[in-house]
Amino acid sequence: MSPRLDGARVLVTGAGGQLGRYLRPVLADAGATVIGGGSHTRPGVDRVFDITDEKSVRAAIDAESPAIVIHAAAFTDVDGAERDEAAAHMVNVVGSRHVAGAAVAAGAYLIAVGTDFVFAGDGGAPYDEMAPTRPLSAYGRTKLEGEEAIMCANPAFAVARTAWLYGGGGKHFPRTVLTLLRDRGMIAVVDDEFGSPTFAGDLAVALVQLAAQRAAGVFHLMNEGRASRFGLARAVAESAAYHPEGVTPTTIEEFLAHYPLPARRPGDSTLVNRRAAALGVRLPPWRDAIGRYVPALAAELNLPPATGEE
Ligand SMILES: NC(=O)c1ccc[n+]([C@@H]2O[C@H](COP(=O)([O-])OP(=O)(O)OC[C@H]3O[C@@H](n4cnc5c(N)ncnc54)[C@H](OP(=O)(O)O)[C@@H]3O)[C@@H](O)[C@H]2O)c1
Repeated sequence: MSPRLDGARVLVTGAGGQLGRYLRPVLADAGATVIGGGSHTRPGVDRVFDITDEKSVRAAIDAESPAIVIHAAAFTDVDGAERDEAAAHMVNVVGSRHVAGAAVAAGAYLIAVGTDFVFAGDGGAPYDEMAPTRPLSAYGRTKLEGEEAIMCANPAFAVARTAWLYGGGGKHFPRTVLTLLRDRGMIAVVDDEFGSPTFAGDLAVALVQLAAQRAAGVFHLMNEGRASRFGLARAVAESAAYHPEGVTPTTIEEFLAHYPLPARRPGDSTLVNRRAAALGVRLPPWRDAIGRYVPALAAELNLPPATGEE
């Protein structure tokens, strides 16, 4: 049951991004007036402002006087952040501080989106909201410092960490899997990296449920369960009616020998949702989400009919 936000003005940063695109219809269904923010004009963006520019953030939030800010904007290129941590810091820390400060000044509630990459993933999983953080990458470090900036601005604000996000028209893991299966027929995927795959559409619903309750503090919002990249890729293949044997297992070591990446990833950053669940907010299991999302993605990619027997 969706909460009602009738008449509430809700400003979304990163409204043109992967998650932002799903937030708008969920908020509109709940009766909210949505103001989409982004750093440049694109679909979903009503008001252009760069969150690294404090004056323009203040001006936008003052002018729109939202009751709620959903802060989904971030520097999300994990390897790009490793190459240029200063640029990631500017958006994820300084930008988050600007958005939180402007929300405080406007008397708005704020919920920001965080990441599983604040965890090292070397033995502590599944991580609940109280688990000690230890990011391995520049992206994780800057997102963690951004969390701290937000909670420091007002302890009544919230950060909802999510993981392995996919959905919509941009680049994401299920799209890469299906594109490679279509183009090459086979794909090798690592079977020793684990996490919580999350459909952006389900995350949008849960975020709005938490925002409607003005929930405070750190939360974990992800589709329930644990997957390896390989297990996820096989589930994607099956949901698109490809033969699952087209996805073969490999190891991180083997993968990195062929495709070196600058940023270290957590080995197992599976999250567990305790605090939001206690408020009645939880997402469906990840396999369920894949089963709902992937057929539409396969149709969008205009995939050829299944090659397997199933
Ligand atoms: N993707 C994942 O796997 C994943 C996993 C865990 C957590 N998260 C978190 O989930 C949230 C949403 O991620 P997403 O996948 O939707 O990201 P995304 O598609 O990359 O969208 C991020 C948005 O941030 C905006 N943005 C970046 N720099 C900005 C700036 N200086 N000023 C204003 N806007 C700026 C971008 O808008 P413009 O295009 O207009 O610049 C873009 O729309 C982020 O907080 C991310 O850290 C993502």
